[in-house]
Amino acid sequence: MSTAISEQLDASSGLDRTRLPRHVAIIMDGNGRWAHGRGLPRVMGHRAGIKSVRIAAELAREVGLEVLTLYAFSVENWKRPAAEVSTLMRLLNEYLRRELPTLMKNEIRLNVLGDFEGLPALVQRHLERVMKETGENRKMVLNLALNYGGRSEIVQAARRIAELVKAGKLKVTSLDEELFSRFLYTAGQPDPDLLIRTSGEHRISNFLLWQISYAELYLTPKFWPEFGKADFLEALREYQRRERRFGA
Ligand code: IPE
Ligand code: IPE
Ligand code: MG
Repeated sequence: MSTAISEQLDASSGLDRTRLPRHVAIIMDGNGRWAHGRGLPRVMGHRAGIKSVRIAAELAREVGLEVLTLYAFSVENWKRPAAEVSTLMRLLNEYLRRELPTLMKNEIRLNVLGDFEGLPALVQRHLERVMKETGENRKMVLNLALNYGGRSEIVQAARRIAELVKAGKLKVTSLDEELFSRFLYTAGQPDPDLLIRTSGEHRISNFLLWQISYAELYLTPKFWPEFGKADFLEALREYQRRERRFGA
């Protein structure tokens, strides 16, 4: 990032750079309704949503977030019509192919949260390639939550821990919150400080159940394809107006 961009952002964004969230997570919702409102098929909404993904990733990087997590496909989303699921997977492949140069330029590392093996083979290959190529990038982590479920994440952690205990490699008494969190997909990352959901729904939909215990929630009626830079900045400014107490 050039200093010119960072200065401009400082002046125009109204953000306090000393109080930025480290990790922002977004439930990107409302693609289908956005399309429906325009008399378009749902898949056009998903296509339009990719633009918002780019904008969000770019702004997160400019502002200086450490981690941006985007909920792209839940374990429950397999229940959708097969045609919609396959279009989503195709769009994901397309995004990965097109986005790689930008991720490299901006030094962003791509990471996946979710059941990787349960994704289609072609998607796995695309992801593996991008994760490998961006693996050394250190400016920001972009987590894509794919085939992700908060409950199944906790269950897979519990299973692995139980195996270690059974094998005598871990004492039950040494298990605490810090150790448990190391078995989650987000191991080593700070918990989200801010959770954004678009489309006016007021629910979590099985997203990051463990990690959001003290996240600030920001709910906006805007549909994901219309969530732009100004909207993201407003969410960040709203976050900075909040008083976080953590129970104290
Ligand atoms: C979010 O938009 C994208 C995914 C869940 C993949 P939706 O497809 O859920 O759109 P709505 O909520 O039906 O409008
Ligand atoms: C949550 O949105 C999942 C993603 C954004 C990927 P959904 O549209 O699937 O959630 P519900 O069905 O409204 O709870
Ligand atoms: Mg939805």
